[in-house]
Amino acid sequence: MSGCQIDTSVIRPIRFFNGKCQMLDQRLLPAEEVWLEYNTYEEIADAIRTMVVRGAPAIGVAAAIGVWFGVRDIETASSQKFFAQMKQICDVLAATRPTAVNLFWALERMKHFAESNLDRSVMELKIGLEYEALAICQEDEQLCIKLGRQGQSLIPDGSRVLTHCNAGALATAGYGTALGVIRAAVAAGKKIAVLADETRPWLQGARLTTWELQKDNIPVTLICDNMAGYLMSKGEIDCVIVGADRIAANGDVANKIGTYTVAVLAKEHKLPFYVAAPMSTIDFSLSDGSQIPIEERDALEITHLKDIQLAPEGIEVRNPAFDVTPNRLVTAIITECGVVQGDYQQGLAELIQKR
Ligand code: MRU
Repeated sequence: MSGCQIDTSVIRPIRFFNGKCQMLDQRLLPAEEVWLEYNTYEEIADAIRTMVVRGAPAIGVAAAIGVWFGVRDIETASSQKFFAQMKQICDVLAATRPTAVNLFWALERMKHFAESNLDRSVMELKIGLEYEALAICQEDEQLCIKLGRQGQSLIPDGSRVLTHCNAGALATAGYGTALGVIRAAVAAGKKIAVLADETRPWLQGARLTTWELQKDNIPVTLICDNMAGYLMSKGEIDCVIVGADRIAANGDVANKIGTYTVAVLAKEHKLPFYVAAPMSTIDFSLSDGSQIPIEERDALEITHLKDIQLAPEGIEVRNPAFDVTPNRLVTAIITECGVVQGDYQQGLAELIQKR
């Protein structure tokens, strides 16, 4: 392909070494690149809860690895008892973060594998679950690449693209969803400039999106969250692309807090607002976005910046980590199985057939 610069990203937040798992500590980026080592499911549950690993698909991958690590320590010869203990491990991992459905999707896939193979020995189940976890990881990067190629035709050459939070390689097994579409557009030879919202309070945009795009030599400009409207009104943004933590059957999208605000701004300025997410992010059990559980996080994320106090002692704080963008504000949902526009209820249901 002429003008091809980046076909894959080399950034992967989770890696394996001698049966152990290492994760890039995303709390410390971009100042420090520290890899932490994990051996048990409790440690992995903690890594998800404390956001060493974050981003919906990456959380799903980490949860699957957590199950693998948990079951390998189970001591029983009975497959039934093994499965009962496995479900307890899954419950611990499920209690870490409530909004990203990929977490629950990955746990269900691991449980489904075990439950459909209960006639096998415990040793065979353990080996099978290791393969299943590694497959979830490998598939995730592959489907991000596919998703990127599906979506890149929506981004014209020369586009200035606003993104919110980090839906990149760091939020997946590799390559990314929203940033995967941008990577694919760049790989197709297009000149793309990214604007990254800083994404208060955890600063995924300022710390992570800029870090990974800079590493891949994709032009990126950092802005504060409250600058998007001004830049849109000046004609300096051509479209918006974000990831998702959970998409309801009708196409309502839960994503990082502030996404809804950006979608409203995009509508006002008649700019396309794209959502890029794998099929595992679509929760067909929920008819609309009002049923999506929204995580509330610690007030300290807002009142403090590391050790620096930003707000008065004892101040009342709300800290919802996600919001829901209604489907009417979404121009298209890009998945690895295809792009849906218009009637999301029907379009998303049809995509399931192509899976
Ligand atoms: O709280 P986080 O950092 O886990 O939230 C991440 C997001 O909101 C991402 O936009 C979303 O998970 C999509 S990642 C491909």
